[in-house]
Amino acid sequence: MKMKGEKISMLTAYDYSMAKILDASGIDVILVGDSASNIMAGHETTLPITLEQMIYHASSVVRAVHRALVVVDLPFGSYQGNSKEALSSAIRIMKESGAHAVKMEGGKEIIESVERILTAGIPVMGHLGLTPQSIYKFGTYVVRAQDEEEALRLKEDAKILEQSGCFSVVLEKIPALLASDVTGILNVPTIGIGAGNGVDGQVLVMHDMLGINNDFSPRFLRKYNNLHDQMINSFQDYIKDVKSGDFPNNKEQY
Ligand code: KIV
Repeated sequence: MKMKGEKISMLTAYDYSMAKILDASGIDVILVGDSASNIMAGHETTLPITLEQMIYHASSVVRAVHRALVVVDLPFGSYQGNSKEALSSAIRIMKESGAHAVKMEGGKEIIESVERILTAGIPVMGHLGLTPQSIYKFGTYVVRAQDEEEALRLKEDAKILEQSGCFSVVLEKIPALLASDVTGILNVPTIGIGAGNGVDGQVLVMHDMLGINNDFSPRFLRKYNNLHDQMINSFQDYIKDVKSGDFPNNKEQY
């Protein structure tokens, strides 16, 4: 798709019902993101989600999907600093969920883990820029790589990930010009989130773009719906009908 100049569409999903609709929509890639930690479980960060919980979400998604590529995040603590554990985490995801690839956050510091996972024939997607699993190192979710030193490091990391065999790299919340430069120096596709339009594809968190989360509105987010308000209206209509005795009517009973 990169060679043809065709942009790649990617969205997150964490459960069977949403993944079924998403797959039917024609999406290219479904990411079972560790953002499930925030979106599905209400944690403040992505750090608490476990390998078992990621496998549960991933296997629910895989059961719904017939055509899209399914990529699953390796969660925090399942791959950093120990390439043997990284391989065994990736194998568990592939074996127990049936997904097609894993995604990992970081650059040269995780290369040993990336390479070991690749030896097992498991495709790896990289993730650079704002890497939420390192939020306590950054201290903030602001745009990354705004200074020259960090931008240079990010370019080097992107090259190292490609050379190690990653099939794609997510670029999160970095300046559009830098993301475009990185896209130009890589042969594998880049997928951006808050990284401008010079990348090979885009990813958003499904619940954010559907407007289910009405308290999250960063500049990079385009909301394609306002499901929060639509759902509140539906729930309130239901409550009203139950309270008034209008539901169920004669046709809605046996
Ligand atoms: O976990 C996630 O949803 C992600 C995307 C934001 C890229 O990693």
